[in-house]
Amino acid sequence: MADPKKLFIKTYGCQMNVYDSERMAEAMGGAGYVTTETPDDADMILLNTCHIREKAAEKVYSELGRFKGLKAEKPDLKIGVAGCVAQAEGEEIMRRQPLVDLVVGPQAYHRLPEMEEKARGGAKALDTDFPEEDKFEKLKGRGKAKRAPAAFLTVQEGCDKFCAFCVVPYTRGAEVSRPAERVLNEARDLVERGVREITLLGQNVNAYHGDGPKGGTWSLADLIWELDKVDGLERIRFTTSHPNDMQDDLIAAHGECSKLMPYLHLPVQSGSDKILKRMNRSHTAESYLRLIERIRAARPDILISGDFIVGFPEETEEDFQDTMALIEEVKYGQAFSFKYSTRPGTPAAERPLVDDAEASDRLYRLQALITQQQQEIQQSMVGREVSVMFERKGRLEGQMVGKSEYLHAVHVANADVNVGDIRAVRIVESSANSLGGVLV
Ligand code: 5AD
Ligand code: SF4
Repeated sequence: MADPKKLFIKTYGCQMNVYDSERMAEAMGGAGYVTTETPDDADMILLNTCHIREKAAEKVYSELGRFKGLKAEKPDLKIGVAGCVAQAEGEEIMRRQPLVDLVVGPQAYHRLPEMEEKARGGAKALDTDFPEEDKFEKLKGRGKAKRAPAAFLTVQEGCDKFCAFCVVPYTRGAEVSRPAERVLNEARDLVERGVREITLLGQNVNAYHGDGPKGGTWSLADLIWELDKVDGLERIRFTTSHPNDMQDDLIAAHGECSKLMPYLHLPVQSGSDKILKRMNRSHTAESYLRLIERIRAARPDILISGDFIVGFPEETEEDFQDTMALIEEVKYGQAFSFKYSTRPGTPAAERPLVDDAEASDRLYRLQALITQQQQEIQQSMVGREVSVMFERKGRLEGQMVGKSEYLHAVHVANADVNVGDIRAVRIVESSANSLGGVLV
């Protein structure tokens, strides 16, 4: 039998790309490929790209340029671009970088094996359609190999919100939810393969509205409650959510469903009503704060995480101070913050920019505040007992590392535990990015 061909996938961007890369690797397994950790011995290289900010897209072109030598040494090497840059700039990529043999948009991954065959035949292959069929259903099964204890599962894709700065509604298309039964089957399959924690993914995951197994439409909370019944599945998470889609049943589930972890990523982007309006967010700072209050009433210890954009067109220092005030009020356990990046084709791209040095300064100040809050919350964990699911060995001999229910990384020295074990841990120290604890 011929040696299997080797596939190297490099993933950029969000967790949905991580999930997609896994599924593509599995699909290509059906076409005789095994994955490799380095591009050097690969027969096929796939860059699964992100288009959310300008830098993310530029990285792809510089990475592609670096494969020139490899391709010269190995003319049979096939190079593909997948993900959101592929969707947005497919033909442009082919023109700008002749090394690229195939370009596949996020909705066409199930066609990847055919495209690879076409590329092997010497032709260029491009597919950025939004076909009707469910790509996940068509992608080859996940196989039966054992899995790490924490897994992602995409339940919803696309977004109809059209925030004025964001390319997602264009690159990932309209909101589509997978039918509940398919999600449940996939979850059960993951659990059979050793998974104990599932993070449900979607660009707008709490807008999930999939067909129910017996007709009707299921909300994300319905899905969570059904997953709650799956023996062996111990932890459920979901990301990313929009404030306007936090329905009552989902808020209530945070208080009532013990498998649903007390962590919520709920981006607000800005604390200024003027900017929120221009961002087309359809909520105010006040409505966001009241929502957080309701969520905390349901689950007082929930850790809130967010996304922020600073330097959105025409943001003034006063608008920025509104954002800082909102952060002060919420107290975030985690946050991702970005300087506004113009995305061609989005409504905000037409508006006057904030001075770049000013935007950088705001980002610096915002991140300092978030870091302070994060550290205070971590510090408040010292002395408390948390539940940790162990995911890997640590760098030190005998050390094991896992995640608490609040998604903090926790390391335990001389821990007599296995990967996948969930154990009570008393936190004894907090450092920059993690907590240290002892088994209880
Ligand atoms: N510029 C900067 N940040 C952006 N995001 C999305 N679009 C842009 C942009 N054009 C950020 C938002 C979003 C996160 C995934 O990326 O904060 O929530
Ligand atoms: Fe982009 Fe807004 Fe949709 Fe999030 S909700 S994916 S930021 S358009």
